[in-house]
Amino acid sequence: MGNIYAVTNQKGGVGKTTTTVNLAASLASSNKKVLLIDLDPQGNATTGCGVDKEEIAVSSYDVIMTKSKAADAIVAPEGLSFDVMPTNADMTAAEIQLLDVKLREHRLRLALESTREKYDYILIDCPPSLSMLTLNALVASKGVVIPIQCEYYALEGLSSLLRTIERVKQRANPALELTGLIRTMFDARNNLANEVSRQLINHFNKKVFHAIIPRNVRLAEAPSHGLPVINYDRSSRGSIAYMAMASEFMRREKNN
Ligand SMILES: Nc1ncnc2c1ncn2[C@@H]1O[C@H](COP(=O)(O)OP(=O)(O)OP(=O)(O)O)[C@@H](O)[C@H]1O
Ligand SMILES: [Mg+2]
Repeated sequence: MGNIYAVTNQKGGVGKTTTTVNLAASLASSNKKVLLIDLDPQGNATTGCGVDKEEIAVSSYDVIMTKSKAADAIVAPEGLSFDVMPTNADMTAAEIQLLDVKLREHRLRLALESTREKYDYILIDCPPSLSMLTLNALVASKGVVIPIQCEYYALEGLSSLLRTIERVKQRANPALELTGLIRTMFDARNNLANEVSRQLINHFNKKVFHAIIPRNVRLAEAPSHGLPVINYDRSSRGSIAYMAMASEFMRREKNN
């Protein structure tokens, strides 16, 4: 049955969406059946996979908030080898509306029950907040992938994210584990980046992916073409780095 992973960090702009889209594409290129779920009202993963936010018939918002079936929201974007459950700004309302519904943190988990078995991996792109939507992702997930941009404030907020993961594990989802931290937008010439990277390894040891995602302009350009980087420029450093991350991810998953 498909294991579900939340890609999350409440800090904005650290590479969550870039990691979700490119990890999904890299796993799919290893012949895995992959579903990407966009839970962020910004819908960046949706557009990054070439899905027009204005043309969504059924969105992840409908799946979480109404009785729409997950299967009805899933699309197979042209030219990509993985599926997407897209979203748009409708999702903004979900934060407030969820406060009033039963089993509010379990909506996504319940909605995915019948769909999970069709996939090897389901990756959820979370919004930049520790909100009800992120909680829904954590309650539904087996693992958490945390993208970290190695800069001065990188570690700030990480402890509240880890506390939230622990709380969800204790109260709602005992199976939840930290899969790993992935260093993103890394510039090896930057002393501070190297220092933060060392601190991460001291603190988290094997939980830090060996793969490092470099700052790479092809990764930043690819979403404007609605493509993961392996479809846009397969031989770029960004593409090679996400392929390496995907291999490591599959190895870790096997050993768990
Ligand atoms: N390795 C990289 N090299 C160059 N640019 C990158 C890289 N990773 C991400 N970017 C760019 O940095 C910006 C932020 O990345 P991304 O959207 O993935 O972050 P995010 O954590 O999802 O942001 P948000 O919190 O707003 O959802 C984007 O413009 C993206 O294209
Ligand atoms: Mg994002």
